[in-house]
Amino acid sequence: VSLWFIQCYPFRVLIDELATPCALVDLDRFESNAKRMAEKALRLGVRLRPHVKTHKCVEAARIQTDLHFGGITVSTLAGARAFAAGGFSDITYAVPIAPQKIGDAADLHTEIGHFNLLVDHPDTVRAVEEVAASRGIILPVFLEIDCGGKRSGVDPASDVAQILVRLLADSENIDFRGLLTHAGHAYRARSRSEAYEVACQERNLMTAIAAEVRDLGVEVPEISVGSTPTLRAIDDLTGITEVRPGNYVFFDAFQAAIGSCDLDDVAFSVLTTVISVHTEQERAIVDAGALALSMDPGPSHVDAECGFGLPVTLEDQHPLPGLRLVGLTQEHGTLTGPGTQALHPGTRIRILPNHSCLSAACFDRYHVLRGTEVFDEWHPLKGW
Ligand SMILES: Cc1ncc(COP(=O)(O)O)c(C=O)c1O
Repeated sequence: VSLWFIQCYPFRVLIDELATPCALVDLDRFESNAKRMAEKALRLGVRLRPHVKTHKCVEAARIQTDLHFGGITVSTLAGARAFAAGGFSDITYAVPIAPQKIGDAADLHTEIGHFNLLVDHPDTVRAVEEVAASRGIILPVFLEIDCGGKRSGVDPASDVAQILVRLLADSENIDFRGLLTHAGHAYRARSRSEAYEVACQERNLMTAIAAEVRDLGVEVPEISVGSTPTLRAIDDLTGITEVRPGNYVFFDAFQAAIGSCDLDDVAFSVLTTVISVHTEQERAIVDAGALALSMDPGPSHVDAECGFGLPVTLEDQHPLPGLRLVGLTQEHGTLTGPGTQALHPGTRIRILPNHSCLSAACFDRYHVLRGTEVFDEWHPLKGW
């Protein structure tokens, strides 16, 4: 708790006194989620480099890196700079670097000592090499592999991976750090056992590619994998050196629906107030719309009725029966169902978002709670 907070934060604020919509972080749950993953990574013999895009707060990242080496993952340069200013000195920027940003990335690497970049295209490798050579420095670089998510990363079935490995390994201004992947397709799983299948496929593919690269005579110091569903499901990461889960500290309605967590683990929620009730139509409106919850469609492959988030009770976050959040516009959320009979203008509830990372990004502060008492405020960084 900062000195500023001790001086300025009103004494003993209860959640019922907060202006809505607002973001709540349950610190007991956050800490226990962080500890469980940190201990699991130790047990599996891998380093934990949490992805801090979920909350974008230095205070939160310090809790997550406890028990580990202090490395983190970010997805923006603004994030990297803010966490560097907060004392983090080993950061992986886990998005293929835009050639125009390499100069700024090089500055940050020179400042903190370990700013790892990601590439999946020969043009980017050449651009990294050019910038590094012009400054007389060596930049650490990972090769991204697409293990099935069909986002960024080299297709493992093509020969591009080998070409890139050669370029990276032969460069005098690049320190080839190894292979990195993110199993985004684990979010298509419908259960923990399906996520387990994805996790095994991710691990086996990455260790097989690493073996091929080593056969070329190239060292692969790191094999970095990670997503919350896969890491919650798997118990053997032989051959892997590092994991980068992010969402697991907050979790959300999506993770609960696919079996990554229990509802009782969800540490992030949005507090909202009922502003309009139409009892005869079983409809009520809350003041949390898309700008508080995001428009994430949620786990509709598991539950076609999931809506845009899960309405839960104010005090203990239990699901509210007979209520569905069926629509969002900018500042309105539409609830339907027999549960609306119990609602009145001014009633307060919480919503567990479908995707806590996107919902958290809607807010400029999180109210940090133990129980229903607010005792701190975290300020996420903004921008790219
Ligand atoms: C490259 C990369 N690594 C790690 C993660 C963390 O995954 P999760 O939020 O499922 O834990 C993400 C999330 O998008 C990612 O894009």
